[in-house]
Amino acid sequence: MTHSADHQSTTEQMTGPGSDLEFRPPTMEDGAAMWRIARDSGTLDLNTSYAYLVLSRDFADSSRLVLHDGEPVGFALGYLRPTAPDRLFLWQIAVDESQRGRRLAARLLDSLLEGLPQVTTLETTITEDNAASQRLFASFAERHGAEHRIEPLLTEAHFPDPGHGAELLHVISGLHAGS
Ligand SMILES: CC(C)(COP(=O)(O)OP(=O)(O)OC[C@H]1O[C@@H](n2cnc3c(N)ncnc32)[C@H](O)[C@@H]1OP(=O)(O)O)[C@@H](O)C(=O)NCCC(=O)NCCS
Repeated sequence: MTHSADHQSTTEQMTGPGSDLEFRPPTMEDGAAMWRIARDSGTLDLNTSYAYLVLSRDFADSSRLVLHDGEPVGFALGYLRPTAPDRLFLWQIAVDESQRGRRLAARLLDSLLEGLPQVTTLETTITEDNAASQRLFASFAERHGAEHRIEPLLTEAHFPDPGHGAELLHVISGLHAGS
């Protein structure tokens, strides 16, 4: 299966000085770069390279890659929840350290939302110590005039591996309300 035809409409190309960025859905060939970015993030749980390869193939339409000068520097990997397809679950988002603070993560989320007009709710989980991620999603909710609530989901006791902090569920609802 090729994604290219579907993806044309969501590809966002910036031009001009300092803005040689491209936002587009990933292909399976991008899975390796996504694995490397996750590995180097310093924060994310690193999943197997197999997971990034297969998920970037199956969830391309609900995911985004950002390239700087043609090199992948960030990604957002998500899926529409099978029992609630108007809900986008954002599984992981990361931007290479060299590119942080340039609004790439914010633009990855905006690009995703723009390509998914059926999505009214975004869900993600964040640990209590991840201030950057908390601000990223709070700011996204504010920008889109959406409601943002936080509730418990995964406690430390859920995790079989020791040292994993609790993950709070962030639910951002009322997206696309004005469109
Ligand atoms: C979280 C992460 C993706 C943010 O990427 P980024 O491209 O630097 O973020 P942006 O420049 O788009 O900033 C978006 C918002 O977050 C805020 N933010 C970004 N980094 C921050 C930090 N370290 N501390 C506090 N706020 C921060 C920005 O100020 C901005 O807020 P604003 O809209 O109110 O101005 C990046 O820090 C990262 O890859 N971290 C490691 C992986 C990770 O923790 N992923 C999230 C797991 S849930």
